[in-house]
Amino acid sequence: MASKEGFMYLIFGATGSLGGKVAKALLAKGERVRVVARPGSEVRRGARFTDVAELQRLGAEVVEGDLLQPETFAQHLDGVAAVLMTASGTKRAPPDTLEAVDVAGAGALARAAKQAGVAHLVFISASGAGPDAVGIPRLKFEGENAVRASGQRSTVVRPAMFMQDWIGFVLGAQLQGGGRVQLVGSGDPARIFVHEDDVVKLVTALLLAGPHGDRELTKVVEYSTESASHEQIVGRMARAAGLPVKVERIAVGEPVTTVPEPLAGLITHLLTMVADAPSSTAVTPEVNRLYGIEPTSIDVFLSGA
Ligand SMILES: NC(=O)c1ccc[n+]([C@@H]2O[C@H](COP(=O)([O-])OP(=O)(O)OC[C@H]3O[C@@H](n4cnc5c(N)ncnc54)[C@H](OP(=O)(O)O)[C@@H]3O)[C@@H](O)[C@H]2O)c1
Repeated sequence: MASKEGFMYLIFGATGSLGGKVAKALLAKGERVRVVARPGSEVRRGARFTDVAELQRLGAEVVEGDLLQPETFAQHLDGVAAVLMTASGTKRAPPDTLEAVDVAGAGALARAAKQAGVAHLVFISASGAGPDAVGIPRLKFEGENAVRASGQRSTVVRPAMFMQDWIGFVLGAQLQGGGRVQLVGSGDPARIFVHEDDVVKLVTALLLAGPHGDRELTKVVEYSTESASHEQIVGRMARAAGLPVKVERIAVGEPVTTVPEPLAGLITHLLTMVADAPSSTAVTPEVNRLYGIEPTSIDVFLSGA
């Protein structure tokens, strides 16, 4: 599709994984993209990230700004029609906490967008967000409310757990250390997953479609393609690898010992965050139909295809 004259997408979080992929998808379609980046950090390089120099080579305009300091980004909203916020404190260190980035930062960005006359804001929340949630989904819900309160027309996307992080990394890194996987907590609830590339397709389609026409200013899109428990997935990984895998249960508060530090600390932290999550099997095939997405299954993801 040809770029609309003067139409500009502004992305906060493009140095992360999801935001960088959406930026590339928009650039590949010939769209004008501006990304807000900060100087590189060790924290960023410890996880999956997007090189800002690559985005620049692909045609993105790169500007500097910090969601914790609204005066650093307000001017970047000039001439922008749609804003995407994938930025999050989930995998960052203080002062970039979830409270500061996903709640206060989201609110400040939505208010600035409204003031600048931006037509559409897409905010990435998380599945399970709601008033009764705890932990990350609870803070994401507060971020959604901050966006809602701004009066900015917006779409909130609530993706399920990314296969790349919660299967590929959390379980895969442990399996590489030997035939042992530790899971935190006594329960083994059903969890919902989605392949990150399918979220990229959904978010790109939402941005290209422009502001939704719903009566409510904020529209919520839940997105999940498959449900399974962590123990079931470990079983599938063992079968795919043709190797026996032992699953061990550790209590909340105990560290994972299957991998060396600093991996162990990060995996312990992530598994602890979801240890008490309620069971969920709520997949959303209608989203795939609506946006023409052929979702990637867990088995295809595990096969590395
Ligand atoms: N992974 C999952 O399973 C999952 C599930 C549901 C929802 N989500 C949501 O999906 C979104 C994208 O995830 P991701 O894995 O792509 O995230 P990510 O790789 O951790 O990227 C985080 C991004 O946020 C930016 N950021 C953090 N603090 C900032 C600040 N103060 N000002 C400006 N930018 C800031 C980071 O910039 P720097 O590089 O400069 O630090 C980076 O670009 C997040 O909102 C996440 O909560 C993820």
